[in-house]
Amino acid sequence: MSWLYRHLIRPALFLQDPETIHDRMMRALRWAGRHELCCDAIESFLGAADLPVELFGLRFPNPVGLAAGMDKYGDALPVWRALGFGFAELGAVTWQAQPGNPMPRVFRAVADGAIVNRMGFNNPGAAALAQRLEEWRALRRWPNHPVGINLGKSKTTPLERAAEDYASSFRVLQTYFDFFVVNVSSPNTPSLRKLQDKSALDEILAALQQSQCQSQIANGKSLIATVPAHSPGHINSEGPKPILVKVAPDLSFDALDEILELAGPRHVAGIVATNTTITRPSARAPALQRAYAEAGGLSGLPLRARSTEVIRHLYRQVQGTLPIVGVGGIFSAADAWEKIVAGASLVQVYTGMVYEGPGLAKEIVTGLLERLERAGLRQLREAVGIESAKESQCSRA
Ligand SMILES: Cc1cc2nc3c(=O)[nH]c(=O)nc-3n(C[C@H](O)[C@H](O)[C@H](O)COP(=O)(O)O)c2cc1C
Repeated sequence: MSWLYRHLIRPALFLQDPETIHDRMMRALRWAGRHELCCDAIESFLGAADLPVELFGLRFPNPVGLAAGMDKYGDALPVWRALGFGFAELGAVTWQAQPGNPMPRVFRAVADGAIVNRMGFNNPGAAALAQRLEEWRALRRWPNHPVGINLGKSKTTPLERAAEDYASSFRVLQTYFDFFVVNVSSPNTPSLRKLQDKSALDEILAALQQSQCQSQIANGKSLIATVPAHSPGHINSEGPKPILVKVAPDLSFDALDEILELAGPRHVAGIVATNTTITRPSARAPALQRAYAEAGGLSGLPLRARSTEVIRHLYRQVQGTLPIVGVGGIFSAADAWEKIVAGASLVQVYTGMVYEGPGLAKEIVTGLLERLERAGLRQLREAVGIESAKESQCSRA
């Protein structure tokens, strides 16, 4: 599949504008998602083997997830499982509906396996997203894997009122999602990344915590219990929802450590590392130089090493006590394994699927199973952080 995709399908797709082709694909997947037989047919070719992971009280059929930004509106929600994914993160969604930045706003750097985007959180707003999700529920097409949502800040909301903005989205969406990702790391909303500062992030997390408490009390549910067991095919609506924070790869280790200091007091369930980078690799080829001259966040292969470095640092700092979702430049099972042994408990892909095609999730899961067997490990969690742990032992010795 990946040979066919790389040599025949991808060249044809890449003749078209990136966002146009993305929208066409999403329309086709939306149609497929409505038809169970169609999803079954896709799954028979591209569905992945089981490699279960239990985390945040949720059961993931495999550790490979769809990264935020690909399916912003939940258009293809039932299809991701058929395409081999073990979970999906929808969004980003903001409280206000907004069109995003003017087009064109996505650029390929093909020779480097990269994308530059400055989408700017184009989305219909949290309330409209909730309505769309109702459709999948009504059609009984909700997938049997965890579904998360990436929360962003509305462009028109001033930074001082960011906490309120995130909490409003959280309130209308909390019954739909199994986990929430606070996105304070997109480079495409002016000043958003300032919300990674400890005090600003603390305010946002406090507002989300308060919303959780209010709804738990209103529904007469326990505030003490963490997350209850997730039953496949059902939304986890019983306990507090896991809230994760997505960080930028451009933060210094000190700044990352400050974010980690909030994890305990604010009950952060995990860190998603990383978002796109504002840095650029050096490039000689004119096509690459043109793509890299565009403003926006860079994803794909040039991000891989830095994202792994951030994961390694976070893992060492928390000694494995806070789960990490690794994302950035995963194009193969080897790339996913690199993130896992550095400390990621789950991984996500976006740009890799654009370059490697729809069989990527299956290929990664198969490759991870092979690597586990070669390493003599029975479960994925035994592999999490093993390289980082070894390296820190060596540096202490
Ligand atoms: C076109 C595009 C849109 C994205 N939109 C979002 C978004 O809305 N929220 C977010 O947190 N990350 C977004 N991302 C970042 C990805 O989720 C991911 O963190 C990043 O691309 C690195 O992974 P990759 O190298 O596998 O693409 C977007 C990425 C791309 C390419």
